[in-house]
Amino acid sequence: MAVMTPNAQDWARYENRIASASDVELAEIEQELFGRKNGVLTLALKELSSLDGDARSAKAKELNIQKKTLAEAITTKKSDLLSSTDGAFDVTMSLPEAERGHLHLIPEFIREVEEVFGRMGFDVFRSAEIEDEEYNFDLLNFPKDHAARDAQDVFFIKSDAPADNKLLLRAHTSPGQIRYMQSNKPPFRAIFPGKVFRKDADATHSPMFHQFEGLMIGKDISLANMKGVMITAIKELISHDAEFRCRTGYFPFTEPSMEMDMRWQGDDDSSREGKWMEIVGCGMTHPNVLRNCGINPDEWQGFAFGFGVERMIMIKHQIPDLRSLFQGDRRFLKQF
Ligand code: PHE
Repeated sequence: MAVMTPNAQDWARYENRIASASDVELAEIEQELFGRKNGVLTLALKELSSLDGDARSAKAKELNIQKKTLAEAITTKKSDLLSSTDGAFDVTMSLPEAERGHLHLIPEFIREVEEVFGRMGFDVFRSAEIEDEEYNFDLLNFPKDHAARDAQDVFFIKSDAPADNKLLLRAHTSPGQIRYMQSNKPPFRAIFPGKVFRKDADATHSPMFHQFEGLMIGKDISLANMKGVMITAIKELISHDAEFRCRTGYFPFTEPSMEMDMRWQGDDDSSREGKWMEIVGCGMTHPNVLRNCGINPDEWQGFAFGFGVERMIMIKHQIPDLRSLFQGDRRFLKQF
């Protein structure tokens, strides 16, 4: 097989490649030139035998010069690369921007909630997601036949628990209030963030969602204090331009009870924002609930509220469908 012997230009190209090679490339070039079977120089030298006389000795001379030049270039480059590793390795050199993750919107928001209420002197108290009817309903003053206890609304758990006190996935964070009041002496103020479960699913409901409950009990805590605390916190968490409206409501564990809606246009006119959305149920803690926790209602009074976390995030970030928060789609999550 006739091999094209490289010409002067080809040799020069090899020299250039050697001069700019990394150590991996250098090893490749060395193999390409001097490889025992297919090395370009090895083959060119073998070709010599097909020439005769003067032509052969002229070519041999040329090839030997190239061989020496290239071999030297490779040796020099090798020692350059070796000695430059220490000196040229710059620890302060900036690397290409790495992609950094961040907290999901829900835990991120709950941390902000804890911080805002923490600054107002509120404790943070977490309790179990599995409760029983006593804590989810009875101690919160729900009558035995209250509609909220229906299996249509609550996820009951199969267990050996007695039929009148079945285990369930808590339907609200309110059992946390009871557990806190049973183990603390008033005056106190605390928030109770966490997951809750209900048989609901549409654009503004998910079977699992997050609430944070608040409770403040003292000698003369009033509804005015409640509005003050809630509105200060929401403005801090969402926007100082947020608007609020209160409606009367009903919860067995507060009397009187209220529901508060919120509206905030945000900066996107086409968003669903600007519409009122219910975000919190609240009221003055019912005397029976205080009594159930060993607190004398003639001596102590206060308020409780329960916010829906996802709804607040929907308003804050102009998200039209709450379910996007749970689909784990990075294209959605990366926007925030
Ligand atoms: N637990 C109520 C709910 O889940 C909210 C609430 C909390 C209302 C505290 C009043 C006081 O809807």
